[in-house]
Amino acid sequence: MSSPIALFTVTLTLLGGRVNVGGLPYTYLQPRHHHGFKTEPQFSEKYFPQTVDHFNFNSMGNGTFNQRYLITEEFWIKGYGPIFFYTGNEGDIWDFASNSGFITELAAQLRALVIFAEHRYYGRSLPFDKDSFSIPQIGLLTVEQALADYAVMIRELKQQLAATDCPVIVFGGSYGGMLSAYMRLKYPNMVAGALAASAPVLSTAGLGDSGQFFRDVTADFESVASECRDAVRGGFHQLKELARHQDYSHIQSEFSLCKPPSSAQDIQQLNGLLRNAFTLMAMLDYPYSTHFLGTCPPTHGPDLLSSLRNTVGIVYNSTGLLPCFDLYSLYVKCADPTGCGLGLDSLAWDYQACTEIDLCYESNNVTDMFPPMAFTETDRQLYCAKRWGVVPRPNWLKTQFWGDALSTASNIIFSNGDLDPWANGGVRKSLSSSLVALNISGGAHHLDLRGSNDADPESVLSARKTEAELITQWVKMDPTSVSGTGTQRWTHCRTFPVLSAY
Ligand SMILES: *[C@@H]1O[C@H](CO)[C@@H](O)[C@H](O)[C@H]1NC(C)=O
Ligand SMILES: *[C@@H]1O[C@H](CO)[C@@H](O)[C@H](O)[C@H]1NC(C)=O
Ligand SMILES: *[C@@H]1O[C@H](CO)[C@@H](O)[C@H](O)[C@H]1NC(C)=O
Ligand SMILES: *[C@@H]1O[C@H](CO)[C@@H](O)[C@H](O)[C@H]1NC(C)=O
Repeated sequence: MSSPIALFTVTLTLLGGRVNVGGLPYTYLQPRHHHGFKTEPQFSEKYFPQTVDHFNFNSMGNGTFNQRYLITEEFWIKGYGPIFFYTGNEGDIWDFASNSGFITELAAQLRALVIFAEHRYYGRSLPFDKDSFSIPQIGLLTVEQALADYAVMIRELKQQLAATDCPVIVFGGSYGGMLSAYMRLKYPNMVAGALAASAPVLSTAGLGDSGQFFRDVTADFESVASECRDAVRGGFHQLKELARHQDYSHIQSEFSLCKPPSSAQDIQQLNGLLRNAFTLMAMLDYPYSTHFLGTCPPTHGPDLLSSLRNTVGIVYNSTGLLPCFDLYSLYVKCADPTGCGLGLDSLAWDYQACTEIDLCYESNNVTDMFPPMAFTETDRQLYCAKRWGVVPRPNWLKTQFWGDALSTASNIIFSNGDLDPWANGGVRKSLSSSLVALNISGGAHHLDLRGSNDADPESVLSARKTEAELITQWVKMDPTSVSGTGTQRWTHCRTFPVLSAY
């Protein structure tokens, strides 16, 4: 799941645009209007001396690396407010902080301290600097190490901030949402509850079917118009025919490619790049962005190819600066068929997809509109052995993080937007009164985590309201705060009398 946010940022970097840290240099994700609280927070960027290897005392000894985190105390009432902790995912932490306005809006309401922690091996949190992506240094990139980082950081920062008795709520979107759910499963002693937004905890653990993802991308376009699906399928058919006749120069001109394709492999790459554009459009159809799903190709005859081409343009040429499309730099094939993004972050994500995170999603041109592109466990094994010298363990994630046997967990919200192709890889039905599934109708990828916007549909307002209510309850009755005798250890933090009205 290439972080679409990071992907756009990196795309712009490649194009010579500057990555404006903390800002949004791209138009798709830029909300047009902002209203409500004054909640553009001033985060301070800090580094935490983090243990390099939590699980082997001999390998790295007490060695540490600098793990980046962002923190703001501007909403916090010390001694009263809870701690909101974003479990960073596969990208630069500033990108998540600048696109998760809901967290700071809620922090303003509940007077919370807010921390965004960067995931090891992403952004600037590189345990071995530029050698981090070498073998064997990459080997300390695991979900377990990342969770241990967050747990150690939470304990230590609470100490430093004299907040040891304050409840912690974790937040995350996408893979970050998986991590926040896992934090609650694995460290319920430290974390009172989790908001796991658009977290495909089931499909990434190999539960579910490999056709679901691209079927759901297709369903999004189909729901706009069934002609749309047919047009896309027709375009891919025409491309297949041109390729069959090895009419490569025609393909080059139709798709404005920098170089003519010259092999079946190039055509595979082109199909992957095209399919990925539809994936991103389905994930990013926010109410205030370009209406991707509404830009479905027109439906007639010879125009089908140029319609496909225009789709690519919407996604990859958002800056309008690309003279032509370079097949191999705009889309990098990897162990995640939905794309690993670009740059160093994509290497780390590829490794995770080669080890614990199972993303064997396939398209088949029957239940979806894309060319048949298989990606089996065997394909994954071959690729991963060659690329990283590792053998994936398809059953490990569901063993370690409970798979679909989650009903004895508690205090986790699983929110999903129904436009998001990741949604049906997650928990869609509430499992108990404290394992709550929320459907956001008309919602794209973790829309609920984003800041309030005038264009927000009712469904997301209502989801955020439920989330705020549950989180408010959880911080009031933090079960981690109950000591052996059943009394509250942090009553001070909870019931500061003057402010109990909040
Ligand atoms: C690591 O351990 C060594 C002794 O083995 C000690 O001198 C050093 O201060 C320790 N470093 C940290 C960061 O604790
Ligand atoms: C990118 O967009 C610009 C501006 O619309 C256009 O001139 C250019 O041809 C586009 N590039 C490609 C490869 O389509
Ligand atoms: C998809 O299936 C249709 C109908 O079976 C077929 O005509 C078309 O060539 C297929 N497209 C691709 C890209 O394989
Ligand atoms: C969410 O929507 C899905 C698909 O429509 C449905 O199966 C599920 O029951 C819904 N879940 C909740 C919590 O409403």
